[in-house]
Amino acid sequence: MNVPISNIRNFCIIAHIDHGKSTLADRILELTGAVTAREFRNQFLDDNEIERERGITIKAKAISLDYTYNNQKYLLNLIDTPGHVDFGYEVLRSLKACEGALLLVDATQGVQAQTVANTLLAIESNLQLIPLINKIDAPLAHSEEVKEEMKNVLSIKPEEITLVSAKTGENVALVLERVIKEVLPPRGSAANPTQALIFDSVYDAYRGVVVYVRVVNGILKQGDEIIMLNAKHEFKVEEVGIFKPKMVACKELKAGEVGYVISGIKNIRDVKIGDTIGLKKEEGVQALPGYKDPISMVFCGIYPSTQSTYKQLQTAMERLSLNDSSFQYEVETSEALGYGFRCGFLGLLHMEIIQERLNREEGVEVIQTAPNVTYEILVREAGGIITLRIDNPAKFPDESVLVEIREPVVRMSIIIPSDTIGTMMHLCEIRRGRLIRTEYISSTRVILTYDIPLAEIIYDFYDKLKSATRGYGTMDYSFMGYEVADLVKLKILVAGVEVDALSVIIHRDGAEAKGRRILQILRKEIPRHLFEVALQAGIGKKIVARENIKPYLKNVTGKCYGGDITRKRKLWEKQKEGKKKMKSIGRVEIPQKAFLSVLSTKED
Ligand code: GTP
Repeated sequence: MNVPISNIRNFCIIAHIDHGKSTLADRILELTGAVTAREFRNQFLDDNEIERERGITIKAKAISLDYTYNNQKYLLNLIDTPGHVDFGYEVLRSLKACEGALLLVDATQGVQAQTVANTLLAIESNLQLIPLINKIDAPLAHSEEVKEEMKNVLSIKPEEITLVSAKTGENVALVLERVIKEVLPPRGSAANPTQALIFDSVYDAYRGVVVYVRVVNGILKQGDEIIMLNAKHEFKVEEVGIFKPKMVACKELKAGEVGYVISGIKNIRDVKIGDTIGLKKEEGVQALPGYKDPISMVFCGIYPSTQSTYKQLQTAMERLSLNDSSFQYEVETSEALGYGFRCGFLGLLHMEIIQERLNREEGVEVIQTAPNVTYEILVREAGGIITLRIDNPAKFPDESVLVEIREPVVRMSIIIPSDTIGTMMHLCEIRRGRLIRTEYISSTRVILTYDIPLAEIIYDFYDKLKSATRGYGTMDYSFMGYEVADLVKLKILVAGVEVDALSVIIHRDGAEAKGRRILQILRKEIPRHLFEVALQAGIGKKIVARENIKPYLKNVTGKCYGGDITRKRKLWEKQKEGKKKMKSIGRVEIPQKAFLSVLSTKED
């Protein structure tokens, strides 16, 4: 549909997880006739199987909608955003392609951690906010209190809030009317030199990389010789089009429009999100302000459950990273687990989703080691002091050259029922959190803000928050910086030999207890040997915990009374088989299961 730029509106929906974004998008799709009743299935934009199952949106999507209002034709571009804490980066990308945002708050849940975080991002990006309270049909809706919370926390005037039900469709037409009236049309002009902001990309096995763009100035069409203004890569446009919501080719994309470009790009790493597409023939055009690179915050090892599936895992990793530029991996070998990969993720949910995709989409069973963060470590070298970035405890430098260790600290906001303050404060304190402030958002709910080491919340903090708050607590965090901390490498020794795969980086205060826990697990999992096996946990040269495994002569043929030699042989063979899954560390055989129990152990 050809509409003037003054009749284009680019907007997104921001909300906390589960507050109803996808359902609202469904109603908007229906109302604008973008999807026929026959094609329609609920939550149309969540087409990935895992997204459907978990009911969450992982990858932001864009869709162009035709809408007639007051006898005028409008083009509405809706960009769907994910709501979870790990995907804040994707939210920000979507915001940069819009002029307006529907801010959705669940009438039964009220303002949540992600509501606050996403609203701040939208305000920073100068978007026109249209505040909505959703689920007003629900029996537990308490819209008046939620209005009060939005006023207290987000400074939103109650009279600016529209009450809707994405389920029944009540007031959804009113929402579109507000989009048309309140969101500004895009600013650029088709007459200017071309500048198109890349806000996402996906890999398609048949067509190569599909680049999502918001054309800010000028025109993009088939046959154009284009250049990525920052990366300087050049391509030729094979097709441009829009999402309806399936990809539909069109003649051109003009200033203000949102769509896709296919130009024979084979490798998703050649496309940098946040880069600007320009025309080769138009020299001297500046790139638009882009995005910060996403930083991997959480790391873990992913290994094939048997080494014979290593190649399969490698192919799967490559395929996953094609569609997720924020997922990083490199080859790693572990004494215990063999060949595998060291992987970096935006956060814990991101990590879980990648692991699930490996299992489900790629059919590879994997072993995942306990997650950790990146440390900045200052060490003495011949020429002076240098800074190392270590994301793997096995690479921790020797104590003798250590000058300082720094760890990532995040500012975390948690919104909780006020009767759980005591429990939550205690939890944050034992996790080394520093209270920044306490704010009441209503008489029954409160926001606690803490600066806390990322390492203390990546593991099981979210589960603890949920159980301490009967499921009502929500959290959000953003990276603040690296801070000096009294961290140590806790070494594990088996019969005097250090087992690198089992070492952990941990705060000095918790090291001894952690060491004891690991040794107890090992004592249960390592079989007895002919000699006594000493298990030790140490920091530097100091041993902080010790356990022993008593000697035991395991004579499997003992019960055969020396008679039947074939039976004896069978037993010996069987014993040898069992040993294959063992790892020799010095003179000691450690079963793989022992490594797994330690590496994936939950904190208690
Ligand atoms: P993410 O994409 O994971 O962030 O979730 P979302 O915000 O897209 O939420 P979604 O649309 O998946 O809705 C979450 C749940 O709320 C679903 O079970 C919906 O059926 C339900 N829901 C959404 N809107 C309404 C509403 O207006 N009324 C009622 N009663 N339920 C709703």
